[in-house]
Amino acid sequence: MDWGNQPWPFKSYTGAPPQSLGDPRMPSAEFWPSLLAWPPAPDPTASPLDQAGLAGLLALAAGLTAQAHGGTYLRSPASAGALYPTELYFSASGLGWLEDGLWHYAPEANAPRLLRPGDLAGATAQVLGNEPRTLSFMLTALFWRSIWKYRTRAWRYCLLDGGHLLACLELTLAACGLEQRLCLNPALGTKLLGLDPEREALLAGVSAGRKVDSRLGQLPDWQPPQEEPLSAEEKSDPDVMAAAALGQSQAPSPALHWPSGPAPEKAVRLSPEPPPNGPALGRVMLARRSRRNFIPQGLSAGQVALLLAAALPQDGPLGVTVLLGPEGELPAGTHRYYPGEKALALLEPGDQRGAAARACLDQMWVGQAALSLVLWADPERLSAVAGERGYRQAMLAAGRAGQRLYLAATALGLGCCGVGAFYDRELTSAAALPPGAWPLYLIAAGPVKNAPPI
Ligand SMILES: Cc1cc2nc3c(=O)[nH]c(=O)nc-3n(C[C@H](O)[C@H](O)[C@H](O)COP(=O)(O)O)c2cc1C
Repeated sequence: MDWGNQPWPFKSYTGAPPQSLGDPRMPSAEFWPSLLAWPPAPDPTASPLDQAGLAGLLALAAGLTAQAHGGTYLRSPASAGALYPTELYFSASGLGWLEDGLWHYAPEANAPRLLRPGDLAGATAQVLGNEPRTLSFMLTALFWRSIWKYRTRAWRYCLLDGGHLLACLELTLAACGLEQRLCLNPALGTKLLGLDPEREALLAGVSAGRKVDSRLGQLPDWQPPQEEPLSAEEKSDPDVMAAAALGQSQAPSPALHWPSGPAPEKAVRLSPEPPPNGPALGRVMLARRSRRNFIPQGLSAGQVALLLAAALPQDGPLGVTVLLGPEGELPAGTHRYYPGEKALALLEPGDQRGAAARACLDQMWVGQAALSLVLWADPERLSAVAGERGYRQAMLAAGRAGQRLYLAATALGLGCCGVGAFYDRELTSAAALPPGAWPLYLIAAGPVKNAPPI
């Protein structure tokens, strides 16, 4: 890595400073009901959104939450290598307390900057394929931040990281009492956001709040404010650009349906029972960290049930394999999880975690974690359901599951860490994935030494 050319983690525009929203007010929604509702349900007791509420929303969705020993600021969503390639934009319309227009979120100030004033709700709705709403969020990946370290593999991390932030955003919007419509198939959006498609791609969007009337029609030409360089020499990677271009289209497409297959009869049906008096969602989100110091202790069946139910919706583009160690209530071995029925079927008995750790570039702590979730995709099904968009959708879903597993582990006093660094073929074999499956993401969770109380 070229440390002298490390990209700056905060996007900055000349002449468009962040505008303070004042002290943030955190939503008070409870953790477990928020995590176990799919899709996230608006909290009916939330205060109406105002500037302080928006400051709290942005802080939980994408804000700074800690500073690492080397000085790097860590954020609410996990991020591969703490490089944070995901940028967050939103268009505001008819709020009354915030100017209509396109805003960009500056995490370093926990404040948004106005990029483009005016009524853009209709134009945003066209990009996201939704009706115009008061707040429409858009997530992009800024390739160079991740290319700097991961080169061609950066596209994987851009998508997984985007999924992590998406999970935080969806949960926070619901906790703020806002209705939301997810869009995983947006149009290009370059004209609306002023993006350079060779360096930044729109990945997903969420329209939230109440519906508003807005002019549709053609967007006038617009030049975004001048952007500060990310580093002395910004580089690109032709494979990353080609992969990003593959999943792009001129028009948004509707949400896709991915029914999950039936579980075999012998599968164990899990019952996720949240503990009474659970913590507030905001508290857990602010406390979440990557913890890798796993200890040889297992999980109860109830803990496994909660972790998996929080991480995965009933249907989706992912295959789900679970590796369990020998110290827990459920049998050690390689299991297949069926989210639609919350059922776990033992595929192969025996502890495979050591082989998984070796496949993860010898990150041996993976072999100590009580549970590893291995998320994978069936490439034929991906392209049959979603064409070139399939890979993006699966990776975003994997990142979203990862962030939710982190949060559920944090609430249970467990450790958790995502692992994107692995050899595909070795992990496919260690986790007994079906022939031809693509491993997308591994997330390890379990008891750790000195987990801070929540
Ligand atoms: C997609 C993804 C892949 C990751 N891969 C690894 C990994 O292979 N090894 C590791 O030790 N940590 C990995 N991490 C954890 C990050 O290093 C961690 O999220 C980052 O340093 C920020 O710290 P935090 O999670 O405590 O906020 C990964 C995280 C994400 C989101």
